[in-house]
Amino acid sequence: MRTETNINEQEAAKQREIMERLKVRLAKKSEELGRPLTYCSVCFGCQMNAKDSEKLEGILETIGYVRTESEEADFLIMNTCTVRENANLRVYGRLGQLKKLKKKNPEMMIALCGCMMQESLVVEKIKQSYRHVDIIFGTHNVFKLAELIENKLDSKGMVIDIWEGTTEIVEDLPSDRKYDFKCGVNIMFGCNNFCSYCIVPYVRGRERSRKPEDIIDEIEKLVSDGVVEVMLLGQNVNSYGKTLDEPISFAELLKRVEQIEGLKRIRFMTSHPKDLSDELLEVMANSTKICKHLHLPMQSGSTKILSDMNRRYTKEDYLALVDKIKTAIPDISLTTDIIVGFPTETEEDFLDTLDVVRKVRFDSAFTFIYSKRTGTPAATMEFASTEEEIKERFNRLLHEVQEIAKETCSKDEGKTMEVLVEGLDEQDESLLTGRLSNNLLVHFPGDVSLIGTFQNVKLSEAKGFYYIGELV
Ligand code: SAH
Ligand code: SF4
Ligand code: F3S
Repeated sequence: MRTETNINEQEAAKQREIMERLKVRLAKKSEELGRPLTYCSVCFGCQMNAKDSEKLEGILETIGYVRTESEEADFLIMNTCTVRENANLRVYGRLGQLKKLKKKNPEMMIALCGCMMQESLVVEKIKQSYRHVDIIFGTHNVFKLAELIENKLDSKGMVIDIWEGTTEIVEDLPSDRKYDFKCGVNIMFGCNNFCSYCIVPYVRGRERSRKPEDIIDEIEKLVSDGVVEVMLLGQNVNSYGKTLDEPISFAELLKRVEQIEGLKRIRFMTSHPKDLSDELLEVMANSTKICKHLHLPMQSGSTKILSDMNRRYTKEDYLALVDKIKTAIPDISLTTDIIVGFPTETEEDFLDTLDVVRKVRFDSAFTFIYSKRTGTPAATMEFASTEEEIKERFNRLLHEVQEIAKETCSKDEGKTMEVLVEGLDEQDESLLTGRLSNNLLVHFPGDVSLIGTFQNVKLSEAKGFYYIGELV
């Protein structure tokens, strides 16, 4: 009998073979043109998507494409997000412009993938209105990019390959890392929570955890390659491992990752409040490597709305959890996601959200106006508030969140703390940018040779959401 591992190993081997063939084929093409073939990779959405893009880029580099930031490339790949309507609109906007580029370079190939492509209406629309797209695939078959390119080279029409779902996890394919010293690592895929507003479970499929051995193996390889910080990725890392043949908790996984020699920092996202265990808090409190930061999306402060959202905790549960976290790890930085204008939300419900924001005092919060996603339960609910009321609430929330964050983020002013130097400051190239354990950034004068190293920096001046500092 073929086991799942067998199938996956065979699949990976098949893809590597195709990559070898393509390498030869594309080298010939590049020789004919007398220049290297280029690719441009555009990515929208969350860190899961960013990680998928690194895998796609790994495949493209392996077969011989050279990266360019310009969209005037021979191969353009757009990894899409559909979590809010805005994300979709941006893709259609870009596609319109790409038509002109393709006229200039008929050799150009355009590929679309990611969450938006898992929606059949989107694919229909692209088939009809954006005929210049060459390849469309989804979130479950990222590993197949080389095969899809080969299919496209051998055919005239649009190549479309969307899977409804998958139970498979194909390991051991190339990945092109954005940073030398830090890297995201998938620990699970998909989501089973079905929050009533959210499209993710529909486009990312059911929850699947990677085996702990595979995760540890990958991190060990990364560390031997110079990586000092990993970010463990999943839509709900707190339910990691529950569906494995040999179940293991997320806290247990963290303990194993902590033991990897040479690894200095461990981060993870995202934590669902309903599954955050005491065991996890204990592991975090005792760890020297797990960063003092928890992203704990609250979504709303109203128990009624949380119930309509299917979040499975109450306002009181959330506040009690935050108290427990702050007691266990006093210097923790807490960040969150909040949705304003969920259909059933009234002014009273919104005041509950403000109340929680004031009580918790988040270090930062991503705030979103609810966006209707067709196919989700919330999409058929009637609105209790007008658009203007929602806009006005959003502004009030944003103001509150920012005022609090400014104070919370300044609390370490004057202290000296360790940062991982990540690169040049984007605004001012005479400065370096480093990241504190609590995820805040510090800008300070220093030499580029420090990038990728840990340094002690004095946090001389708090600037609201970041610090200006100096090396000590
Ligand atoms: N798995 C993560 C969230 C992933 S989506 C979690 O549960 O925390 C990132 C954020 O987008 C969510 O936390 C939510 O705040 C926001 N979001 C998701 N669907 C949305 C929608 N339909 N409208 C507005 N914001 C939404
Ligand atoms: Fe969406 Fe909820 Fe899953 Fe997060 S936990 S991805 S918000 S369904
Ligand atoms: Fe967007 Fe997909 Fe992530 S919908 S937020 S890219 S999982």
